[in-house]
Amino acid sequence: MADGHKKLAWITGGGSGIGKALALALDALDWQVIISGRTEQKLQAVVEKSQQMAYSTLDVTDKEQNQQVFSVLCEQYGLPDLVILNAGDYSPMPVDEFNLDLIYKLNQVNYLGVMNGLAAILPPMKERKSGQILLMSSVAGYRGLPDAAPYGATKAALINFAEALYMPLKEQGVLLRVVNPGFVTTQLTAQNSFKMPAEITTNEAAERIVKALETDSFEITFPKRFTYILKILRALPYRIYFFLISKITGK
Ligand SMILES: NC(=O)c1ccc[n+]([C@@H]2O[C@H](COP(=O)([O-])OP(=O)(O)OC[C@H]3O[C@@H](n4cnc5c(N)ncnc54)[C@H](OP(=O)(O)O)[C@@H]3O)[C@@H](O)[C@H]2O)c1
Repeated sequence: MADGHKKLAWITGGGSGIGKALALALDALDWQVIISGRTEQKLQAVVEKSQQMAYSTLDVTDKEQNQQVFSVLCEQYGLPDLVILNAGDYSPMPVDEFNLDLIYKLNQVNYLGVMNGLAAILPPMKERKSGQILLMSSVAGYRGLPDAAPYGATKAALINFAEALYMPLKEQGVLLRVVNPGFVTTQLTAQNSFKMPAEITTNEAAERIVKALETDSFEITFPKRFTYILKILRALPYRIYFFLISKITGK
């Protein structure tokens, strides 16, 4: 940085998957990285790979805990340059198995968990008039997909929320962006029984995201060979979309 201080990032869900790969990628670029998640052993195992990384356990669904963890982090390290609200959960919901518990759970983690984080981060970043916040959404939020209704709805909510605030916050110096990956090989996607098109590794995902930190576009999406097809599907009239998606998924 121009003033010589190490760039500081906070990543939720940093103990595994995309969050872990991101933490290690930023660490390799000499960022000071703090990771959070519920499982201490997973966080510890990531931190042990680095000289300087640190962790703080957090359940993002706990409103007060988000505030506490973030204020302790700020006291110890300062206000982050970058926050990646990446913690998330997923389970498919077969069309004939309406699962209210799953719907509540995914909303608590994927949507309200992100809101809990934002409530802590936004005020000080706005006051400082700088900072970048990435919300880990998904192309599953573009349009409804059979078997992914509870998950897709939470990701659609994140995209919509960030769309509403992108311009007003940008004017105040804070960059609120969404990351919409296609399929990435993690424990979450291991639950999918179908062949995932254009699947990429967590390291490839992290590389795309880190590269995009230099830009200020609203959306970071990859791999484009897959996500751009979904963008086209998103733009189609419902009748054509439903016809195609039911042909593609067989549902
Ligand atoms: N994999 C994909 O293809 C894909 C595609 C698009 C978007 N995404 C999104 O990418 C993000 C990361 O997912 P991933 O695929 O890398 O799976 P993952 O390895 O399961 O990562 C999710 C992380 O979130 C943490 N987490 C879950 N519930 C939490 C809670 N209540 N409080 C705090 N942390 C919590 C988990 O750690 P603990 O269990 O220890 O808390 C875990 O480390 C998610 O938001 C996911 O929706 C993934």
